[in-house]
Amino acid sequence: MILFKKVTNLHKWLDAQQQKDHLPGFVPTMGALHAGHISLIEMSKKENTVTVCSIFVNPTQFNDPKDFEKYPHTIEKDIYLLEHADCDILFHPSAHEIYPAGLIPKRHYDLGSLETVLEGEFRPGHFQGVCMVVDRLLEIVKPGRLYLGQKDYQQCMVIAKLIELIGKKDLIKIVICPTLREPDGLAMSSRNLRLRKDERLAVVAIYKSLCLVKETWQIKSIAQLKQQTRSMLEEAGFKIDYIEIANAANLTLLNEWDENQKMVMLVAAFMNEVRLIDNMLLN
Ligand code: PAF
Repeated sequence: MILFKKVTNLHKWLDAQQQKDHLPGFVPTMGALHAGHISLIEMSKKENTVTVCSIFVNPTQFNDPKDFEKYPHTIEKDIYLLEHADCDILFHPSAHEIYPAGLIPKRHYDLGSLETVLEGEFRPGHFQGVCMVVDRLLEIVKPGRLYLGQKDYQQCMVIAKLIELIGKKDLIKIVICPTLREPDGLAMSSRNLRLRKDERLAVVAIYKSLCLVKETWQIKSIAQLKQQTRSMLEEAGFKIDYIEIANAANLTLLNEWDENQKMVMLVAAFMNEVRLIDNMLLN
């Protein structure tokens, strides 16, 4: 694996590849890598001659400065895991490389209702920051395929919208890979590293509550199941941001079941300081 910190050096290397007609597969990350990220690298390696992974903890997408400060940094272990997965390139830039003109946004991305529901409502500005960094990373890496995890369900939709807004829909294919879970069902996430032992045991309640809804949605109302989930999560010690059922194609929130559309349940909740999200397709 080759590690690049400078855009100019990465460009030189990628330009040589593109002359051979090899557009890279790209896995953008904020580091603290786990098996979920590695599954994206593996998928990219299957489908592309060259795989680029980026590690950049993007300051513009943290609406809570404490969350940014406490975001785990494990670069040595990350490099080890990427080497082991046979990733071709790691791009690990400084903030100055990504944002040479500073952190002030140059444009507003019109994300429509994606910006005001769910994560959009509870993390104001978050998706503008995600778009800002992903727009810049795509400009640098110029991939043919982009690999994202289903765990960040809404982020996948936001990035699809971004790619449309920047006119790269025909150039970049988004590949969404399934959420990887720990043996007890907890969705893998870099933030899990911040959980204490007792918290780690309690947070499996999210997965359990999602499974219960998936098993019983045909016999109970949405209101009943949302209330049941709320009780389960609160009993486990969570403070809930949202529990919603939505149309899986556009994230319109649902109050009534509609078997004619694909439905997804989405949850965001705090276990003390640590905010976790998860989702499950119901039908
Ligand atoms: O999902 C993430 O890790 C980040 O939001 C991303 C896509 C790498 C942008 O910083």
